[in-house]
Amino acid sequence: GQRTIVGISGSLRRDSFNRHVLAAATELTEPHVTLNTYDLSALPLFNGDLEDGGDPASVAEFKRTILESDGLFIVTPEYHHGMPGVMKNAIDWAGSDANHNVLKDMPAAMIGASPTMFGTAFSQQQLKQSLIAAGASVMQQPSVFIARANKKIDENGVITHEDTKAMIASSLRAFSEWIDHKKK
Ligand code: FNR
Repeated sequence: GQRTIVGISGSLRRDSFNRHVLAAATELTEPHVTLNTYDLSALPLFNGDLEDGGDPASVAEFKRTILESDGLFIVTPEYHHGMPGVMKNAIDWAGSDANHNVLKDMPAAMIGASPTMFGTAFSQQQLKQSLIAAGASVMQQPSVFIARANKKIDENGVITHEDTKAMIASSLRAFSEWIDHKKK
């Protein structure tokens, strides 16, 4: 049947490679899959005090969006060999039990782009561990590390490297199979 997945970028900057990859991904899904993007900019820094009496509106909206989706698709950069604080903060909110852990049993998959030769491998490793800790069903294969992203994405944010587009499409295809497998 028709599937809806939510996509988030671990980089907030306008010309982010990862934001461009997420935008491209919305066009590379199979016809029965809709990928909606969700911007993390409005989330406050995690603070348990803010959960008293219900989540802040931006957090509640973010968590509801995940809950109403069939899966969470993450595109993230790597900072200092780990995931950016923006991404960890979003995971901490979404996976917090105080109101409702919306990552529990949620199918999740990730890809990432970086100008270096490792292409976010360390960041994704760390992100997988955090998602697993929160109870998400994390897809392990295929790994998609978009290394040397500056040579594959042009100044208009267009992915000019066909193999990269094919890798993104294969990740999305595997993810929809992963969701089908988890939901049956
Ligand atoms: C980086 N960058 C980076 N790249 C990488 O592959 N491994 C790393 O450990 C780091 N560390 C790092 C730390 C900090 C604070 C910054 C700002 C950057 C480079 C990073 O991949 C590059 O800036 C990307 O362009 C960031 O992704 P977006 O914003 O283009 O999506």
